[in-house]
Amino acid sequence: MSVMSQLPEYEKGIYNHIMIKEIHQQEKTISLELADYIKDGLADLSSLGIDDILLSAEKIYLIGCGTAYHAGLVGRTLIEKLAGIPVESDIASEFGYRHIPWRKNQLMVVISQSGETSDTLMALREAKKHGVPVLAITNAQDCTMNREADRFMVIKPGPELAIASTKAYTSQLVVMYLLALYLADKKGTYDKAELKEIGHELMGIDAAIEKVFAQEEKIMNIAWRYRHIEDTFYLGRGLDAAVAMEGALKLKETSYIHSEAYATGELKHGPIAVITPGMPAVALVTQEKTADKSIANLQEIRKNGGHIIAVCSEKLVSLCGEFEEIITIPNVNSDITPLLSVLPLQLFAYYMAVFRGNDVDKPRGLTKSVQVE
Ligand code: G6P
Repeated sequence: MSVMSQLPEYEKGIYNHIMIKEIHQQEKTISLELADYIKDGLADLSSLGIDDILLSAEKIYLIGCGTAYHAGLVGRTLIEKLAGIPVESDIASEFGYRHIPWRKNQLMVVISQSGETSDTLMALREAKKHGVPVLAITNAQDCTMNREADRFMVIKPGPELAIASTKAYTSQLVVMYLLALYLADKKGTYDKAELKEIGHELMGIDAAIEKVFAQEEKIMNIAWRYRHIEDTFYLGRGLDAAVAMEGALKLKETSYIHSEAYATGELKHGPIAVITPGMPAVALVTQEKTADKSIANLQEIRKNGGHIIAVCSEKLVSLCGEFEEIITIPNVNSDITPLLSVLPLQLFAYYMAVFRGNDVDKPRGLTKSVQVE
């Protein structure tokens, strides 16, 4: 039985599936998450009572599974850049096999929509066993991670029912921004005026989100054209690489298409060999600093007959002009593009699944929360 058919009529609203409803809810949930913690352009997390463990951290481990891990990857880049603190993001299911040189003044941040994922709980317990404080970022007030962590923060998108995570991911991303901006401000590691600029842009992100959703029909048409594919790559550099991983996971989860995420620069070190004529690669091009290099790599795919579905910033459109498909992201600070560039990837995954006749909200073999190791 599909998730949708189990819901009362009023929950379905105008949508055919819960996933597309939750995708569109991000028009509100992203801002909702930001509004409580950004004041006058600066992030303020003092009300959470986490200053003691957060501000003393000389190294941070961001741990999660699946989508939550991908949020941590974005967090790593942001915290290292803005706050100058070394960060490791790792997959919870692998973390337990490492031999971490635990030190004083370290912090583990576990990210989990459900707050119940066994692998993530194991990582949390490992840190606690070594006296390292743990901050849990969850989407559930009453969950095991909140009870076992030293502190917790509950994100605000509301319950997420579709198995493929969408609105919880972007709320987790918002928390990554808040942590990075707050740390940077408190530690004085980044120019305050620039921090405020990012904060103000985040507060005004609604308009940019609307512009992305205005391209939904175009994205639906692209999905229709490529609905029969069996393989694809998701590519990006830097922050784009982290978002590419989430995009590839979304497509796998909902459409069962083999989609692999690669850092664009790695393409030439092997994966280019499997590109065949007509095979599409979804390429994120939102970072000005690396755009030229990425485009050169992507042209190699086209030389082998592959197609490029580009998700690129408006200011970089001229570089992507030759590509087969182009979805644009409004021009925003390059650090905050992940909150926008993931939206077309979610829509693409949704429509691909619909066109392939899949049970979008309840993909085969997947559960919302995995409670086995
Ligand atoms: C499962 C879901 C994924 C999710 C992961 C982590 O594998 O299918 O979509 O990202 O668990 O879940 P969590 O509740 O810890 O965020």
